[in-house]
Amino acid sequence: MPISLHNSLFILETDRTAYAFGLNQAGLLAHSYWGERLPFLDDYPVPPNPGAWGPFNNPSQLTPEEYPGYEDMKYVEPCLKVTQADGVRDISPRFEGCEIDGDTLRITLRDGVYPLRVTLHYRVIAAYDLIERWATLTNDGAVPMTIERAFSAQWHLPTGDHYRLTHLHGRWFDEMHIERTALAHGVTVLESRRLTSSHHHHPWFALDDGRADEEQGAVWFGLLDWSGNWKLAAEVTDFASTRVSIGVNDWDFAWRLGAGEVFTTPRSLAGFTRGGFGAASRTMHDYVREQVLPHPRVVHPVYYNSWEATLFDVNFESQARLARLAAQLGAEMFMIDDGWYKGRFSQSSGLGDWMPDPHKFPDGLERLIAYVRELGMEFGLWFEPEMVNPDSDLYRAHPEWVIRYPTREPRLGRDALHLNLARADVQAYLIDALDHMLSRYDIRYANWDMNRNVSEPGWQDAPGEPRELWIRYVDGLYHVWDSIRRKHPQVIWQSCSGGGGRIDLGMLRMSDLIWISDNSGAPDRLGIQAGYSLMFPATTMQAWVTDQQRDVPFRFRFHAAMCGMLGVGADITRWSAAEMEEARDLIAEYKTIRPLVQFGDLYRLRPADQQGFTAVQYMSKDQREGVLLAFRTFVGQHEPSLTLRLRGLIPGALYRVEGCDGVRSGAAWMNLDLQFGLYGGLGNYSSTLRRITMIDS
Ligand code: DGJ
Repeated sequence: MPISLHNSLFILETDRTAYAFGLNQAGLLAHSYWGERLPFLDDYPVPPNPGAWGPFNNPSQLTPEEYPGYEDMKYVEPCLKVTQADGVRDISPRFEGCEIDGDTLRITLRDGVYPLRVTLHYRVIAAYDLIERWATLTNDGAVPMTIERAFSAQWHLPTGDHYRLTHLHGRWFDEMHIERTALAHGVTVLESRRLTSSHHHHPWFALDDGRADEEQGAVWFGLLDWSGNWKLAAEVTDFASTRVSIGVNDWDFAWRLGAGEVFTTPRSLAGFTRGGFGAASRTMHDYVREQVLPHPRVVHPVYYNSWEATLFDVNFESQARLARLAAQLGAEMFMIDDGWYKGRFSQSSGLGDWMPDPHKFPDGLERLIAYVRELGMEFGLWFEPEMVNPDSDLYRAHPEWVIRYPTREPRLGRDALHLNLARADVQAYLIDALDHMLSRYDIRYANWDMNRNVSEPGWQDAPGEPRELWIRYVDGLYHVWDSIRRKHPQVIWQSCSGGGGRIDLGMLRMSDLIWISDNSGAPDRLGIQAGYSLMFPATTMQAWVTDQQRDVPFRFRFHAAMCGMLGVGADITRWSAAEMEEARDLIAEYKTIRPLVQFGDLYRLRPADQQGFTAVQYMSKDQREGVLLAFRTFVGQHEPSLTLRLRGLIPGALYRVEGCDGVRSGAAWMNLDLQFGLYGGLGNYSSTLRRITMIDS
């Protein structure tokens, strides 16, 4: 039984972990346990019943509530804030009932005076050691009320004020820096106000006591399954209680909950492991690969993307020439990026008019697609559905469709305005336009790009509360994308937002692949990839070899991209014959390790920020086969060379490691310091790829 109600305690058990809470004597739903699964239900602690601390701290302030409302003398971060029609802003959701339904628990709370019903949902994902939480708010009365905050969950850690927060931060072209910081007393807020989850922070967290590493240590981790504005408040109270609240951002947020209406928060997913950051990542990787992605088992093709080669100079000839060369390299998919559609001669025109430009393709796009197919490749096409250029037929016909205030001049971002996807007419237009393209043309891959952040977030002709835009836009985005996916389930989507501007679980429900950064310079990319790998698996991580940082050796650039789903995005008309030949060999080699990278377990043997060396290892699930990719970026002359120990092998089985003498047990390879030759004469920016093979005895 994944969920038990035992002595008034709700106990949620996964294969290896448990989470418990219950009603305390004051009638508050109080958290009591999150950690390793214990042998007996009686082992779990009863919910805490704190007393007051002097006149300044009521018991409610000291109770680790599962879903605190803004009320009482409670100054911790609440999950819920509501203003009633009469102006009352105090909300007291109290236990009314519960329902256990297989792996899901629903707890109903109700305010004693106002007709707000709060349902807390818990789903136990036992095999992955994850718990999913969300809330629904129902107005059971006749008068509207205004929701001003509705988080998805508050996750409580074992008592203590000694935790370290790991999170990811960055900016465009420089995403995914891993930051580890001791949590101070008070509230640490991470958020996005940009309408996307953003390049700047990601709705993901990990907490440990400061001693966990890749291989061991207790780590509590989680995320918000949402692609819009979000907020994470990591709080350490004066009474050594540490908790993470996560949900849609309450910045500039209001939601009018009318009579009988229901508001559902996005979901938050969290887990616990004693296996350090490596195990936390692998848990998420398995879950995303097996339970989230639209096409979990598809082997992704090596692809070529023509963006950096031709920019807006797209026509049959320029693309056919690139396609011929891409096919020679062994690419299996050819994608035209921005620049193919009506009026798209620069970044300032065409967005919104989703039909092939008749001047660029006088014989129609069909001719190019047929040519690409004859070369033995699939065809892919780029879209940026959420944007419109003022210089477009769409904008001329529907200026009222953009996000703006009537009295303010809307700011352009990359020469574009933002279509308001909260509007049903905009949604219908996009569904129709994309459906038409995907029905008419033989398109197997499609890229959904998004290249600006919002400004002047006004909703012209809003039917209700205009600040609902923040949520309704994202719901509209999911609706458009889902409708298209249902009509064309064979199409594999890639998501991009100027690189890593929208990397979140919500996107991975729509798209199997993510373009994680516009920065494809291999040394920088290793760090970006390492940050990304904390959350999501390599099978979702597009990685192109481009002409960026061309001074870095060719092999290194390829090896870096071979850590993800390999593609080429360079101007290959300028590659020398020798480069073409080397690329062909490397792509052929990649195809032999691709199943390991895509479906195997990832071990970060050496994080990207350590002394200029980085190494990752991928092992097949049956632990019979693996591959190691190791890199030396820049290290001073007197730095030590790279020494590694392998991971993820069966201790008693025998393995051979390419380039290393002898056949040894897995235990030996995991305990011996291996030198990988990335030093001495080889110099900086060298890399190596080694296969690991089990030998049948
Ligand atoms: C931004 C993306 O990140 C690039 O890869 C490319 O698709 C451009 N947009 C095209 O406008």
